Amino acid sequence: MCGIIGYVGKMDAVAIILEGLKKLEYRGYDSAGLAVYNNGIQVVKQEGRLDALQARIDASPLTANMGIGHTRWATHGEPSDVNSHPHMGSQNKIAIVHNGIIENYKQLKEYLEQKGIVFASQTDSEVIAQLAEYYYEGDILDAVIHVVGRLEGSFALGIMCADNPDMFIAVKKDNPLIVGVSDHGQFIASDVPAVLKHTSNVYYLNDREIAVLRADEVEFLNFDKEPLAKTVETVTWSLDSAEKGGYPHFMLKEIMEQPKILKDTINTIISSGDNQEIIDGIDINKYNKIVMTACGSAYNAGVVAKYVFEQLCRVPVEVDLASEFRYKDAIIDEKTLVIIISQSGETADTIAAMREAKAKGAVTLAVVNVVGSTIAKEADYCLFTAAGPEIAVATTKAFSAQLVILYVLAVRFAAGYGKLSPTQEAGFLSEIAQLPEKVTEILEQLDGIQKYASTCVGYKSIFFIGRNIDYAIALEGSLKLKEISYIHSEAYAGGELKHGTISLIEDNTLVVAIANCERLFSKLMSNVEQVISRGAKVLLVSNHPDALPDEVTSCITLPLSGDLFSPSLSVIALQLFSYYVAANKGLDIDKPRNLAKSVTVE
Ligand code: G6P
Repeated sequence: MCGIIGYVGKMDAVAIILEGLKKLEYRGYDSAGLAVYNNGIQVVKQEGRLDALQARIDASPLTANMGIGHTRWATHGEPSDVNSHPHMGSQNKIAIVHNGIIENYKQLKEYLEQKGIVFASQTDSEVIAQLAEYYYEGDILDAVIHVVGRLEGSFALGIMCADNPDMFIAVKKDNPLIVGVSDHGQFIASDVPAVLKHTSNVYYLNDREIAVLRADEVEFLNFDKEPLAKTVETVTWSLDSAEKGGYPHFMLKEIMEQPKILKDTINTIISSGDNQEIIDGIDINKYNKIVMTACGSAYNAGVVAKYVFEQLCRVPVEVDLASEFRYKDAIIDEKTLVIIISQSGETADTIAAMREAKAKGAVTLAVVNVVGSTIAKEADYCLFTAAGPEIAVATTKAFSAQLVILYVLAVRFAAGYGKLSPTQEAGFLSEIAQLPEKVTEILEQLDGIQKYASTCVGYKSIFFIGRNIDYAIALEGSLKLKEISYIHSEAYAGGELKHGTISLIEDNTLVVAIANCERLFSKLMSNVEQVISRGAKVLLVSNHPDALPDEVTSCITLPLSGDLFSPSLSVIALQLFSYYVAANKGLDIDKPRNLAKSVTVE
């Protein structure tokens, strides 16, 4: 939610900031702006996509060796030029970019207004710039330390002062921020891909840490101005993984990468990888209950995993939306293992859920994609998905990687509980290891899926149905479709249709029926018959195509697999279907309206 970048060094800061913002645009795209030092602070900011800012800068080029930039996802104040970042104090001395929310901004604003300070925007963020100028007495670091002591809420900040042409300051509390170091200069960014072109060497800032950046050095301090020794880390993500590589959208590229991502992720957890060592260190018999909590697609991965865990481990598993879990006074204790699922490791509700679980004494195990993220750092155990950077807002490869980690966990825990013999355990692990090849087989059907999807752009509603674990993956199919195609969609358990949703089925409604659970196939086919007799068209996604009812003429055939791991195959077909429906509508697939990839506000 909002992306920030900053650079000081020998190279063209304007070009570096614009390039970095391009990589961060997935975090928000209501407006973009930058502030650079060139005979004082120059600010250019613009409502709309980054291209609009780029066009303004192309029309009146700027040069500088230091600056900060921002791409916005609006929270306080509508998307507009004036509400865009950077914000400056009224004396044009201090400029800031901010990711997060200042909860006490109204009180601070009133306080400053009483002193005669006039605000230009409706944002919470402007208060930071105004307050910094108010406290500034010639030392920007002192002013920043004074300001952060008064802020309540979350903030990752880049701060420049007109009196300091060769340095800027970064601060982190509850929102992600990294510092990148290279031989030509130093960076800050909300996320690693923004600096990968220049460096793989990064420091992950912790909460309540400050970085002071100059062209050839970075100093770290805490909020008491005491120096901190931090260790530089080397990022393994490649630059290619953050580029489109010839695909029209990141989403399609990321869908197509899945066989490799699954293989890499499985390698970390089955054949003696880092993840395997972590699982070996968990004594599952200490836990009599498992709770999973997450948001969005990661929550859907938890819903799928619940079926697998309960089937194999025979222990009760609850899955909660993190935004609900954090306020529900969950019944958990030290005998509960709470599994936190998050691609970014920075989703505010998921972080709060994790902290709530820890406060109640539960042990937390995170499944995360981003190394150095808050959840990765704070969870008791952390397993990393090897998905690489995921840029498209709608997740695909990270979701698939989460699923395989959760499958392996379920199998290993089931063995730990004594519910699987070594032979059964090996059998399940070998089934999981075959998934990447089966995913490739589905990707080979891309042309057929594309053709079918091109006939679906006119639907106003598309329903997804399934039973048991097929219902769980229907949730993800439906979410994927609605988030990128803007077609209304709901997922329903087949047996539940008759209790409400069937009243919405009329002539030419499309129902996507997912049917892999062998023992429930005929039950789901009865639901299919029910919707067909009310005029629906049906697309079947199934590994049982031979048993199709005559009226169903559209089918995506999946490779055979056991029920439990079939969601990893269904989801590939559902991702391609959604992608091509949206592509045929000509939509901005990688950046759907109103969404952001990393939701770091509540
Ligand atoms: C946003 C994204 C979703 C993602 C969810 C949770 O809503 O658009 O794709 O599933 O956040 O994100 P996380 O990083 O915690 O997995």
